[in-house]
Amino acid sequence: MRIGVLGCGVIAYWAHLRVLRRMPGATLAAAADPDPAARASAMCLTGVPVHERAEDLLGRSDIDAVVICAPTQFHAELAVAAADAGKHFYLEKPIATDAAGARRVVDAAAAAGVIGAIGFNRRLHPLYQQARDLLAAGRIGRVRAVQTALCEPLPAETMPGWRRQRASGGGVLLDLASHHLDLLRWFLRDEVETVAASLGSQVTEQEPPNSRSPCGAALRFRASSHSAQASRIT
Ligand SMILES: NC(=O)c1ccc[n+]([C@@H]2O[C@H](COP(=O)([O-])OP(=O)(O)OC[C@H]3O[C@@H](n4cnc5c(N)ncnc54)[C@H](O)[C@@H]3O)[C@@H](O)[C@H]2O)c1
Repeated sequence: MRIGVLGCGVIAYWAHLRVLRRMPGATLAAAADPDPAARASAMCLTGVPVHERAEDLLGRSDIDAVVICAPTQFHAELAVAAADAGKHFYLEKPIATDAAGARRVVDAAAAAGVIGAIGFNRRLHPLYQQARDLLAAGRIGRVRAVQTALCEPLPAETMPGWRRQRASGGGVLLDLASHHLDLLRWFLRDEVETVAASLGSQVTEQEPPNSRSPCGAALRFRASSHSAQASRIT
């Protein structure tokens, strides 16, 4: 399978471009990024052509699938464009910045008959897989409540500008806690029935610089009536 990478920033440079070069059955064929510095680093790392425009990569008939690693605000439009071009896609999380964008992605993949996967890579980590098996085997008994906390080691100031704005980064519950919300459904093999969320951030445009608003979501699951709470701590 011949693969292209859209977006050659941090996660592509340190993870996807390196992994794709040695993955059996996959050939890294090309990449694209509007930023000249990102293009130069990706070209130096991989030796493959790196286009300026995503459209030029998507227009190539020799590419079967793409990995989309652009900032979150572009996820929906790039995934829809990939599906429309007949390319399977692995789209970095979160799927979009809002539910309407997510729906467009799902519909475009279904209409084109391509496979779309979202980058919830933690499901593939052996420790998470072991924890899921232990839960299924009842090793901690019946789960009644779960609390998750994402402890981010990097200072907020190191985040790129697009992550700090809810319109472009989706906000912390989409950007970071989406991993946990996905894992809760996967660990518990259950679907969320109701959600009560309180959102806030110390680094978005809506907040005064020194405020430290917490954010979190309380979820109730359908079948097993567990409740779960997800939050982020810096
Ligand atoms: N699964 C994970 O654990 C994980 C980890 C890190 C990042 N991510 C996700 O990956 C995505 C990228 O994160 P990052 O940290 O690499 O960001 P980044 O800002 O370092 O890189 C994004 C790159 O995309 C490029 N870009 C912008 N518009 C584009 C377009 N239209 N087409 C192609 N490229 C475009 C930018 O020039 C930049 O080089 C985010 O959505 C983030 O949520 C996921």
